[in-house]
Amino acid sequence: MAFKLSFTTLLMAGLAAHAQTPAALKDVFKGYFHVGAALNQAQFEDRDARGGIIVRTQFDTISPENVLKWESVHPRPDAYAFDAPDKYVAFGEKNHMFIVGHTLVWHSQVPAWVFQNAKGEPLDRDGLLQRLHDHIRTVVGRYKGRIGGWDVVNEALNEDGTMRQTPWLKIIGEDYLLKAFEYAHEADPKAELYYNDYSVENQAKRNGAVELIKKLKAGGAAVTAIGLQGHDKMEWPTIEQQDATILAFQQLGIKVNITELDVDVLPAASQQRTADVGLSVEAHAKLNPYAGGLPDTVQQALARRYGDLFAVFCKYRGTVSRVTFWGVTDGDSWLNNWPVRGRTSYPLLFDRQGQPKPAFQAVIRAARQGSVK
Ligand code: G3I
Repeated sequence: MAFKLSFTTLLMAGLAAHAQTPAALKDVFKGYFHVGAALNQAQFEDRDARGGIIVRTQFDTISPENVLKWESVHPRPDAYAFDAPDKYVAFGEKNHMFIVGHTLVWHSQVPAWVFQNAKGEPLDRDGLLQRLHDHIRTVVGRYKGRIGGWDVVNEALNEDGTMRQTPWLKIIGEDYLLKAFEYAHEADPKAELYYNDYSVENQAKRNGAVELIKKLKAGGAAVTAIGLQGHDKMEWPTIEQQDATILAFQQLGIKVNITELDVDVLPAASQQRTADVGLSVEAHAKLNPYAGGLPDTVQQALARRYGDLFAVFCKYRGTVSRVTFWGVTDGDSWLNNWPVRGRTSYPLLFDRQGQPKPAFQAVIRAARQGSVK
């Protein structure tokens, strides 16, 4: 406790030293949107004092980085693992946060048995629909009225805007998305329901997502918002792409959540502009240039980049309901291990010591400038 108090004092002093403004994102953005982070298990189990304090003082919404993915929560046909998700939800409730569920239907992190019958043969449409229904009823139903919004379907589109050929699509057909939304709505009629994807800022994929949302709505799906993951680079998406993307979904009458925000400052390891978890590239020293620390020029450029992005999010207050960072401090980020293992990445607002970076101040300034417009 003594450590926690002194760490809180240090953190707040660090925040105040950098800013003359109120130093909590959740307060600064009140009236704009919720601000949050994806939590790892140590953070919601109070085993990460540094991260936990940042989460409690800065954020008013949380997402589970991994514990509600199918392979984690439902590893075997007859076994659900609710211990970790229960703790995640309890953490959010204790801290009065908007709690997000991630994710019900994805092509990744799904055990092979999900798509097979008892003999190990491919399951048929009815069998898989039954399994999907049971999974959603059980998981969403358990947290009914407590988890406020669910990523119902994650990453169903290819880069060119066509439907990704997943086992869900191949076995059930295109209406697997509609069915997933129907089951989720049935399990918790008051929960917000989202379609979540990356690279939607690119025109072709955006067009595909617009069509997909239109089809979902036409089919009666209770879709509240699109989740733009926001795994951004320094030069991508352009501010124009970001703006046009939010506008496109605003025009469809749904909300927009920025769900997995980070900005990668490291050299591109691949030609592919993607956040596909399946991508893997061999380590090389030149791909890890800031192992000893981030040069100030890059630090400042990252701050400007974050400021520019938040200026767009603020412009669309009322449409943008939530901005969630994919991690708390730089040391927590998946980008330290993707697509190259063992890099030193700097994509978030808090450094490895839990101190706010210049990007934090830039984001705060964006809120202040946005509010006087
Ligand atoms: O839990 C096991 C552990 O038991 C094992 O010893 C260790 C060995 O590598 O792996 C651990 O699991 C890892 C898990 O993260 C928890 O750390 C998996 O290998 C690793 O693949 C997994 O990566 C996650 C990835 O999704 C795949 O589920 C990342 O943490 C997570 O940040 C990332 O998040 C995704 C979103 O869900 C969807 N959008 C893209 C985003 C970034 O890839």
